Amino acid sequence: MSVAGETSPPMLAIRDLQLGFRSHRGDVQALAGVSIEVGEREIVGIVGESGCGKSITALSVMGLLPEGTTRVMGGSIEFRGDDLLTLPPRERRQMRGRDIAMVFQEPMTSLNPIMPIGDQIAEPIRLHLGLKGAAVTEHALDVLDKVGIPRSRNILPDYPHQLSGGMRQRVMIAIALACNPSLIIADEPTTALDVTIQGQILDLMVEARDTFGTSILFITHDLGVVAEICDRVVVMYAGKVVETGRTDEVLSSPRHPYTQGLMRSLPSLDTRQERLETIPGSVPALFDMPRGCRFRPRCSYADDGCRRDPPVEVIGGQKVKCWKARQISGVHHA
Ligand SMILES: Nc1ncnc2c1ncn2[C@@H]1O[C@H](COP(=O)(O)OP(=O)(O)OP(=O)(O)O)[C@@H](O)[C@H]1O
Ligand SMILES: [Mg+2]
Repeated sequence: MSVAGETSPPMLAIRDLQLGFRSHRGDVQALAGVSIEVGEREIVGIVGESGCGKSITALSVMGLLPEGTTRVMGGSIEFRGDDLLTLPPRERRQMRGRDIAMVFQEPMTSLNPIMPIGDQIAEPIRLHLGLKGAAVTEHALDVLDKVGIPRSRNILPDYPHQLSGGMRQRVMIAIALACNPSLIIADEPTTALDVTIQGQILDLMVEARDTFGTSILFITHDLGVVAEICDRVVVMYAGKVVETGRTDEVLSSPRHPYTQGLMRSLPSLDTRQERLETIPGSVPALFDMPRGCRFRPRCSYADDGCRRDPPVEVIGGQKVKCWKARQISGVHHA
């Protein structure tokens, strides 16, 4: 397993990304200084409650956010040293699929409903790998086999709606893998699937890393999935990163009060016992963010000092954005 940043520069480095949306209530800041690194051959998980900014972080990397209403207010997204935010649109388009591919939660949003599966998978192969004729079909069948689609030749003429949800998800993963990208961003790719298919898809991701050295940024709600496949984990809360570290360290001794709350709100990872406790309060609205630490209103450790923006404390291998990080010991999640 590789650890990002220790020997080689990271493949992807999102630095202090600030992203705003124009809304009927005025401009709101949805990402307030997000920094995430993904190393070569590394699988990094992003976790956090609904609305914390996981998907828009992914879409920023892909350059797929709606242009009219989105504003990058600061920061950079470096991919192998190039800042994607300043790259000409044409070059950015060429990178999609070839260098960085994305798998979405709902395949119907990214598959074309009126194009046969065979054409959809052939397109990037032709475009990015420069293959022609029979070689294109051969390569397409090869990746479809790899994602576990039985008798894959039979589905080439099918349209997306003719396939089951699990099949569509595999087709999308096949399209993502087809050009052997350096980085795959997977946004909750298994949430809608049954457990067996979910397991197979996670295996595929790990296999892509092991075989091709693919780096993966994996967005999920499921800390069990993180424990299973991620080398490192990034915990987001209300548009900010609150904790990062090696998965085993963060899951065994979460240090940010929010990460601790997340862990308590899940069935125990070790025993699979149901011991659910919810974090009191709710995620603040974008147009009504608390000053200083955004978790403050829900945090049992918070005091007046937390009205200032917390520094990032480095404790062992973990980075924790919390004024109290040194006072709070890593609580073991038994
Ligand atoms: N196009 C948009 N215009 C305005 N606000 C947006 C837009 N897209 C996302 N947002 C807001 O940005 C915030 C982050 O959204 P995002 O979709 O990244 O959350 P998420 O962490 O992926 O949540 P989930 O777990 O539910 O998928 C939310 O408050 C959302 O309402
Ligand atoms: Mg999302």
